[in-house]
Amino acid sequence: MGKLKVALLGLGNVGSGVYKILTANKAVIEKRSGYEIEVGKILVRDKNKPRPVDVDEDIVTTNIDDILNDDEISIVVELMGGEEPAKSYILRAIEKKKHVVTANKLLMAKCGVEVFNKAKEVGGVHIHYEASVAGGIPIIQGINEALTGNKIEKVIGIINGTTNYILTEMEDKGLSFEEALKGAQEKGYAEADPTSDIEGFDTLYKLDILTALCFNKKVPVDTIYREGITKISKGDIEIAKEFGYKIKLLAIGSEVDGKIEARVHPTMIPAKHPLANVNDSFNAIMLKGDAVGDLMFYGRGAGDLPTGSAVVGDIIAVAKNLNNEPSGLDLFEENNKKALKDMKDVESEYYLRLNVLDTPGTLAEISSIFALHKISILSLIQRGDRKEGMTDIIFITHKAKEEAIRNSIEAFENLGDKYKVENIIRIENFN
Ligand code: NAP
Ligand code: HSE
Repeated sequence: MGKLKVALLGLGNVGSGVYKILTANKAVIEKRSGYEIEVGKILVRDKNKPRPVDVDEDIVTTNIDDILNDDEISIVVELMGGEEPAKSYILRAIEKKKHVVTANKLLMAKCGVEVFNKAKEVGGVHIHYEASVAGGIPIIQGINEALTGNKIEKVIGIINGTTNYILTEMEDKGLSFEEALKGAQEKGYAEADPTSDIEGFDTLYKLDILTALCFNKKVPVDTIYREGITKISKGDIEIAKEFGYKIKLLAIGSEVDGKIEARVHPTMIPAKHPLANVNDSFNAIMLKGDAVGDLMFYGRGAGDLPTGSAVVGDIIAVAKNLNNEPSGLDLFEENNKKALKDMKDVESEYYLRLNVLDTPGTLAEISSIFALHKISILSLIQRGDRKEGMTDIIFITHKAKEEAIRNSIEAFENLGDKYKVENIIRIENFN
């Protein structure tokens, strides 16, 4: 049996998970891949840091050249995160004809085209990135292989474990946002800088990759609408419950009449919908294919072993295909024939929480603004204690254009201190 040496760039959460799986499942991996897969070198920033895995210190290095100049290393597994130096290391590894496996969604979303182009230029190099979307869920292989005969019409997912964990803890235990975030960091779900998770960037990168794979349209990441969960309060969660909804951070992509819709934002969804019951750090992705119909993938989207499972799957996929031409290097190409729908043209139902002066005529004024912008109200409630003459009124609208909602918010804000827009959450009823 041949030996295949891999190098891990990073021995943090995911790197340790990969090392544990390669060690614990050595025999089965050998049988399935046809190779004895050995971790030949590991790159870290700090050699003295305590690690959750017991590795031979002779293979640990802080110098990337020890790996790139080692001709015995045939697969470089990038688990460092961030754009640089990860990108340079990957490009240099490709130049050295080393295959690449990465879990880095930021890198694949922002620089995937460059990575693929380098691989095409060099030739014979496999690039795999299953763990970059939804951790342990084999969604990339699913789309690229099992579903490849379908035209995918829609993809909707909960694809960030940290925010789903936070929203679940806020909903189930009544925790504050800060308390729930601390728990997510302790469990290793959150990125080193949680801004990426809570402000929706992590979800955005993953949606960008999914959009490229599902609709053959690589959208520049900064053109996709993104909103995180930092404005969601316990109050919003309670009111959502009263209306029969739960709040989830959704990634939504679809293709209608050749136009791509892609957006990331907190969304109220019916409490009985399967996605509403995806809790904790679990992820789920619903797809609609023209042949297969509706599908749902569910599993752990973060954490050392679930993410490690996807990475190890990629290493084995490279091992099995060493003698085959690499495939999938064109999937991220720009498709200029398809336009990205402007967010202001997107239609949705909306939840709006306004803090208003509790006085005669306020509701009439609000109604006239909604009427002017052709927004129809489905229901409304008044909530909470009157503070300094102000109170919360919550509106649920029928379907309206984002542009109309934005214009009416501007109109409220122009009326001065009488109206404060506390939060706006889009509603998805899946019909
Ligand atoms: P992490 O715990 O912060 O680990 C990062 C590792 O990379 C550390 O071992 C660190 O070394 C090393 N590293 C970082 N910068 C380096 C540099 N400039 N030179 C050398 N070594 C460097 O991160 P993680 O959670 O494992 O995430 C790794 C990647 O997987 C990211 O792209 C992330 O988005 C992705 N991902 C993570 C999860 C998850 O559940 N955590 C799930 C899916 C995908 P030191 O240990 O010495 O500091
Ligand atoms: N921080 C990410 C999450 C890790 O919470 O989902 C998985 O990509």
